Amino acid sequence: MGKILLLNGPNLNRLGKREPDIYGHETVEDIVRMVEKTLSGNNYSLIAKQSNHEGQLIDWIHEADDVVDGIIFNPGAYTHTSIALRDAISSINVPVIEVHISNVHAREEFRHHSLLAPVCLGQIVGLGIHGYQLAANYFLEFIEAGREEVE
Ligand code: DQA
Repeated sequence: MGKILLLNGPNLNRLGKREPDIYGHETVEDIVRMVEKTLSGNNYSLIAKQSNHEGQLIDWIHEADDVVDGIIFNPGAYTHTSIALRDAISSINVPVIEVHISNVHAREEFRHHSLLAPVCLGQIVGLGIHGYQLAANYFLEFIEAGREEVE
């Protein structure tokens, strides 16, 4: 049985209440339920965490190394500022998919650049909460394909 970590960064605990015109009406709990359903149907379990604190997110990334098969990560505004989170992702063997609910490229210029994307497996942007689901589906295929190669 595989394991995926879903990490949400700062202010994402406010989803549902926060700028619904940009981020929609769904909550973090709705996202967790949706991803959990996709994964459990494929014999994968989900660990879901949210923090507003950079150091906490770094600790969770370190702890996930060699424990989970993939990390789905919405780093919120730390995407654009955090060299420390980038180094944390670089320090582990587990692949990370960066997800943004909004289309950051259609917004303010400071959101156009991600410090984390170069050290992630890939990035999904602007597809609303479906981005989390797409990342989960990708991991299911990616991990299974990797296993087949190894066998
Ligand atoms: C976000 C985009 C970031 O620029 C912003 O700071 C967020 C949310 C998104 O999911 O669209 O907090 O990561």
